[in-house]
This record gives sequence, structure tokens and C-alpha cells, in this order.
Amino acid sequence: MFEKVEAAPKDAILGLTEAFKADPRAEKINLSVGVYQDENGKTPLLECVKEAERRLAAAPTTKSYLPISGLADYCRAVAELAFGAEAEPLSRKRVAWAQTPGGTGALRVAADFIHANFPQATVWMSEPTWPNHPQIFAAAGVPTKSYAYFDAKTNALNLEGMLADVGKMQAGDVILLHGCCHNPTGIDPTPEQWKKIANAVYARGVLPLLDFAYQGFADGIEEDTAGLKAFVRPGAEMLVCSSFSKNFSLYRERVGALFAVAPSAEAAESVQSQINKVVRSNYSNPPGHGAEVVATILGDESLRKQWEGEVATMRNRINGMRSELVKALKDHGVPGDYSFIQRQRGMFSFSGLTKPQVERLRDEYAIYVVGSGRINVAGLTSCNIDRVAECIGKVL
Ligand SMILES: Cc1ncc(COP(=O)(O)O)c(C=O)c1O
Repeated sequence: MFEKVEAAPKDAILGLTEAFKADPRAEKINLSVGVYQDENGKTPLLECVKEAERRLAAAPTTKSYLPISGLADYCRAVAELAFGAEAEPLSRKRVAWAQTPGGTGALRVAADFIHANFPQATVWMSEPTWPNHPQIFAAAGVPTKSYAYFDAKTNALNLEGMLADVGKMQAGDVILLHGCCHNPTGIDPTPEQWKKIANAVYARGVLPLLDFAYQGFADGIEEDTAGLKAFVRPGAEMLVCSSFSKNFSLYRERVGALFAVAPSAEAAESVQSQINKVVRSNYSNPPGHGAEVVATILGDESLRKQWEGEVATMRNRINGMRSELVKALKDHGVPGDYSFIQRQRGMFSFSGLTKPQVERLRDEYAIYVVGSGRINVAGLTSCNIDRVAECIGKVL
């Protein structure tokens, strides 16, 4: 049977990393990956994580299974982080939740939940979006469509086009939104625009699903919840998929969460049972370590302060590199206005580089960027930024 199995196409982004590793050129620079890197090009292990791990190792309890929905202390702590400790949906107990293996796990549980409970629903995604989004929903058998999001001419949000597409959605469809730090464009709605989007989405009877993978990487841990909070209204429903891969730098520990905000506590109980059913047949129950680390940090005042500081360091470095890149492009006489790079948020910048330009960057200058022209700004350092700007100038 296996001889008849055809090879699957390589993952567009992970395939590039393999090519980068195999590239013998010493001057090579990887701006294609989706992980944060510090000034030395390393993905750090946060000090607060090290301390939480020390504490957990010093007082081990058990390695028995977690409940299907995960560690309750963790779920509550991360729900408060996303919605706010005093949020009405939490105090009215109308939020069902699950600790999931990363944000991807949360998205897949959400997709299976949608497929099982709303078989007529189409999930609408921004054009462009994270390439794994369509794959996850397709794997769950959920139909997908695209809505307008990015205006390449102005390097800004195409709000008009987006709202027009919301008008084409059917009641009972789902709209997938990036909570902040839109991947790949780096363009987020302003708080005012978020309100308009939420009004249109709810007026249409569409269910919002917020993918929240970069909380704290745009303007601040609290500030970055503005989009999510625009959808928190009395009785209103929504799904949120959180990831703590980036903001706790816990990538391989697979730490995420799914929240389903139901209209009532009663409805939340039924939704919880359906989420549990999906989890049970997928991976039964989630892994413990990463969630224990996050719960330890968020539950301890001093560790939490330390974490907030470490997130600020990552955020400030990324935003600093944005300004540096704009300056370096100017210094190298690259024609055009690149100030939009400074307005974008999160790890990624949609540079506007075309596919042939991306190929030249890789083939001639050993600089790796994904085909869409998405640059990982966190891959820039004071050592490589000049060369990057110079080579961008050459391929333009
Ligand atoms: C937009 C978006 N959503 C979700 C994820 C999932 O993150 P993870 O599964 O690693 O927690 C990522 C990671 O790159 C992402 O960029």
C-alpha cells in the first residue's frame, strides 16, 4: 500500500528553513521563519520560564493525566489574560475552554467543533492569511472562503473591501480574524476599525473566531486585547484561539487555549461537552509541562512582572528593528517610502517584494524570505540589517 503513496508538497515555510540549513554560504540570513530571535539570532529561553521550571522541578507532584479540557488554573489564568480578570463572560461563567497543544491545536479543535456542530458554516479568512489556516480547516472538512483585507497600494487595511465582504457572508458563517499582529501583513485594525468590524460581523449573524497568537508583541499585553474586546458584548458569542508559543517563547512545549464564549452559562456547558468530545478523539488530553510553567508564572506576582518585562524586551526589539530597517533602506538610497514598515505590528512585515525579487535575494545574496515577500523582522540584528537593506536595494 505504501508504495502507492505520493509525496506531499513541502510546507512552504518549513521547506525554506531546510534549504537555509543546507546552504553553505557563510553570509546567509534567514528572515523566513516564524520565531522570535534576539540580537544574537537566538530564540531565548525566558528567565521567568527558567525560574518557573526550577520551582516545578523542586516540588514535583504527579504525571497523571490532565482532564480533557486541561489544567484548570492555567485555563482560568490565560482566559483572564485575554478577556481581562473582571470580564463579564468570565464572571457569568459563559466561557467554555480547553488547554490545547499550541495555537494550532486550538484552531484544529475549533475547526472540528465547527464541523460537528455547524455543518453548513463556511469559515472566511483574510486574503492573505497564515498559510496553515486554510490547511487546518480543510483537514477538518470545513469549507473556506476569503475576504478582502490588505490594500497593496497603500500598505494599509482595506476596511471598505473587508466590510463589503462581511456583507456577503451568510448568518451562521464564521469569520477568522487575527487578534493582533496580522500574519503575514503586520497590518492590524485600529480600535475604532475593530468596533466597526465587530458591529458588521454581529449585524450579519456571523460568528467571530479570533486567532490570538501574538498577545504582547504589538503594543502591550493589555493593549493588544483591543480587537478581542471589541467583540465582547452582553450575550454575544465568539471563539478565541490563543497561543503562548511566542509570548512565553515556549514553542516546542505546545501551549495554547481555545475559548468559546456562549450566550449563557447553560449554553457554555453544552459547548464545553462538545469541545471535550472533539479533544477526546483527537489527543485525549493535553500535555502538562508548558501549561504548568505558564500557570506558575501568571499565578506569581514577581514572576508575572518579570514576564511582562521580558515580553516588553521582545516587543521593543522588534519595533526597534522596524525603525532601523526603514532608516537602513533610506541610507542605502533605496527608492520609495518604506515608513509603512514602522506602522506594521508583530514579527512580520509585508515588504512588497515580488516572487522574482525574493528568489534573487535567496539565489544571489543568501537572504531567505518567504515567497509572499513576508519578512521576519525579528530575524534582523544590528549585524545583518545593513546587508539586508543593501541587497533589497539591489534586487529592487
Ligand atoms: C497566525 C498564527 N496563528 C497560530 C499560530 C500557531 O502557533 P502555535 O501552534 O505554534 O502555538 C501561528 C504560529 O506561527 C500563527 O502565526
